[in-house]
Amino acid sequence: MATRIVTLPGDGIGPEILAPTVDLLQRFVADVEVEEHVFGGASIDAHGTALTDDVLAACKRADAVLLAAVGGPKWDTTDATKPRPEQGLLGLRKGLGLYANLRPVRPLPALYDASPLRREIIDGTDLLVVRELTGGIYFGEKTRTETTASDLCAYSVEEIERIARTAFEAARKTARHKVSSVDKANVLETSRLWRQTVVALHEAEFSDVTLEHVLVDNAAMQLISNPRSFDVIVTENLFGDILSDEAAMLTGSIGMLPSASLGRRSDPPTPGLFEPVHGSAPDIAGQGVANPLAMFLSLALLLRHGLALESEALALESAVDKALDQGLRTRDLGGTASTAEATAAVLAALG
Ligand code: NAD
Ligand code: IPM
Ligand code: MN
Repeated sequence: MATRIVTLPGDGIGPEILAPTVDLLQRFVADVEVEEHVFGGASIDAHGTALTDDVLAACKRADAVLLAAVGGPKWDTTDATKPRPEQGLLGLRKGLGLYANLRPVRPLPALYDASPLRREIIDGTDLLVVRELTGGIYFGEKTRTETTASDLCAYSVEEIERIARTAFEAARKTARHKVSSVDKANVLETSRLWRQTVVALHEAEFSDVTLEHVLVDNAAMQLISNPRSFDVIVTENLFGDILSDEAAMLTGSIGMLPSASLGRRSDPPTPGLFEPVHGSAPDIAGQGVANPLAMFLSLALLLRHGLALESEALALESAVDKALDQGLRTRDLGGTASTAEATAAVLAALG
């Protein structure tokens, strides 16, 4: 049976970086059916909502979902009654039950000089941010009056335990076997439950993994002063969002960071969602200059986690590395290569 992939180009640079990625997908997966749908702002324009029931249903039927990015000034509003592209993304994550967001940060020596950080700070960094993706302040009750507003941050033991399990299992596969749980337990009640739950799971099942707790403000500082101290970082939804953009700068650009969002692994398994960490970059949309590498590396994660094609994933990652070693630099990395030239460089490296 053919492998079914739903693709969601979204908005801004989304279609520009997704098109070459679909070509790559077809090179790596022989019998693949690609089903493209409008999503985000484009879907608001077409259907009045960022995620239609039909598109959610199509994603549920797929083997994996490949998403570029959503959002843009056209749909920016502070009016809570108007639809926003980002609601589509949140609806998709929630609708597919994708609670575990993996954001690997693997700075390449070839790009050390593209980072605003010094080479000796970056050298040897290889970390994974495990971000809880379907709970916390993103999904709590929201209230709004003329003069006040609130967003509730809530977590249950079950939600914390399953994401902590993902992190401990990931750490068992690294050389250092270390988890840094990032919270704000000196202030927030949710963080105290988080810490207590992580400790209990660690003691019961993962005592072979080293566990440390880092307060989020300190973690933000350590990420750029001593990034080598991290192996696997596990944290709640909002902290993970912020820390992963910060960590992207270790790789030289937000245009380098891929992500995998995963849910239930059986009974039945949920399809994963694979997307770059960056947004729709409205400031450079339509110019053909976006860096497609985070999107290509998200395809590599789809091959690895979504389709269990590990050697294909490695081949694509190696081709990206090789193209960069050979001098490929898009504008965000201080060079002049266009999206098309970056694509050609990766294809040439694939041989
Ligand atoms: P952004 O990530 O889109 O852009 C931030 C900066 O990084 C911009 O200067 C942009 O040009 C640059 N950049 C991002 N990706 C790049 C790439 N691949 N190549 C070269 N440069 C790149 O963040 P923003 O400007 O804060 O948000 C723009 C819109 O995207 C907003 O509507 C936001 O909600 C949305 N957004 C969507 C996602 C997503 O779809 N997953 C993620 C983040 C932001
Ligand atoms: C991300 C994005 C999203 C988030 C937005 C667009 C809803 O910033 O994927 O990191 O905050 O999760
Ligand atoms: Mn983000």
